[in-house]
Amino acid sequence: MVWEFGRPVVVAPMAGGPSTPGLVTAAAAAGALGFLAAGYKSADLVAREVAEVRASRLPYGLNIFLPSPPPVDVGPLREYRQALRPEAERYEVELPRLRLADDDGFAAKVRIAVGAAVPWVSFTFGVPEASVVTELRRAGCTVLVTVTDAEEARRAAAVGPDALIAQAGSAGGHSATTSPADHDGSSTAPQVVRDVRAAVGLPVIGAGGTGTARDVRRLLAAGAVAVQAGTVFLLADEAGTRAVQRDAMLSGRFTETVVTRAFTGQPARALRNRFTDTYSSTAPLGYPAVHHLTAPVRAAAARREDPEAINLWAGTAHAEARPGPTAGIVRRLTGAG
Ligand SMILES: Cc1cc2nc3c(=O)[nH]c(=O)nc-3n(C[C@H](O)[C@H](O)[C@H](O)COP(=O)(O)O)c2cc1C
Repeated sequence: MVWEFGRPVVVAPMAGGPSTPGLVTAAAAAGALGFLAAGYKSADLVAREVAEVRASRLPYGLNIFLPSPPPVDVGPLREYRQALRPEAERYEVELPRLRLADDDGFAAKVRIAVGAAVPWVSFTFGVPEASVVTELRRAGCTVLVTVTDAEEARRAAAVGPDALIAQAGSAGGHSATTSPADHDGSSTAPQVVRDVRAAVGLPVIGAGGTGTARDVRRLLAAGAVAVQAGTVFLLADEAGTRAVQRDAMLSGRFTETVVTRAFTGQPARALRNRFTDTYSSTAPLGYPAVHHLTAPVRAAAARREDPEAINLWAGTAHAEARPGPTAGIVRRLTGAG
């Protein structure tokens, strides 16, 4: 795969609201590549978003979550449910029963990608079966798998994708790691790009902590064909980022990010707030069970416009995010004004 776009920038898929068809087409119009985020959405909604972007005839991608293995031990999840009772009281919601399995409609979303011959399809949270990759590639899709270290890169390369996304611990949002217990979020993107390049012969897109043109240049110098950036686009005019997160990012009150499993059971980098301070040290692993467990609290906090119990996903370069058109942010990252 030779990078075929004017600018070496991927506007990251950002599930939970920020990624919209408008963000994806604005990225493409600016010479970058944008991804729709299939995560958490119904297959019907994904199909509609794909149809909308496809009608623009601009290049685009679709990102799909791999189903996570069910938790081996539900004891810590039950304990965490107990520990969250004060939050349920505070936000006047019921904590749901534990929901352990949820494949996020994986098969249906792959079928949509195949049916629409989505030009670029990326995966996170694991490695798809080789048969899935083959089917997508036969349909004409370029297939990418997100990895966080050399070992995951070797496993991913074995199923025959076109390229890998090397995601560092500095990245905003969930880590793609398949060894969440070992994830401390300390790796930097240039380092992960170099490790992955040394392990496999595939083109690598670097991700994590990109806020400036200098960050982009550094990743390209480390051997990346392009850079996938998310956080720096959260305040873009075309992004669907919730007002409560936009306001939090602009308030100057949230100055640090932390890696936490408190919201979803999978390590993710977020702005530090009351919820991360209270629960990061005790929250168990167990995605998506913890995601479902905390959902009513997060939704109620969002309704109250209270940023202290919301997953404010953001990477280490969050202070570089500025409001404005996507095209301007793409230009800023690529050093063209
Ligand atoms: C709000 C938010 C949501 C994200 N959602 C997804 C997602 O749905 N799928 C995915 O592969 N990566 C997701 N990511 C991670 C990005 O793909 C990418 O690795 C990350 O944004 C790069 O680091 P940066 O945010 O520091 O630029 C998300 C990141 C953020 C900030």
